[in-house]
Amino acid sequence: MRLFVCKTTELLEGAQKAVRIGRQSVLVINYQGQFYALRNLCTHDSYALEGGKLENGKITCEAHGATFNLETGAATMPAVKAVRLYKTVLEGDDLYVEEL
Ligand code: FES
Repeated sequence: MRLFVCKTTELLEGAQKAVRIGRQSVLVINYQGQFYALRNLCTHDSYALEGGKLENGKITCEAHGATFNLETGAATMPAVKAVRLYKTVLEGDDLYVEEL
C-alpha cells in the first residue's frame, strides 16, 4: 500500500508528520535532508514517537528515553525490539510512504 504524505517542501529538515496507513500511525521524518518513515509507536510501552528528539540518526522516545535508529529501526534500552520501518518514495516533489 502506498500513501501520499505531502509535498517535500511541506516537510522541512527536522520536521515530523504522522500519517495513517490502514490502522497504523506512521511517522515520516525529514532528518538532515533524508526522508524516513517508521511506525509511530515505541516498542517499549507503546507511546507515540512523534515529537521525539532527532539526534545521531535516531529518534528518542520521550517517555523513557529509548532510541530507534532511523535507518534500521534498531532499539536501545529500555526498548529491546526494533521499530517497524516503512519505505519513503519521492516522485518529483511528492513524498509517499509504502509498506516494506
Ligand atoms: S514507551 Fe518509549 S521508552 Fe518507554
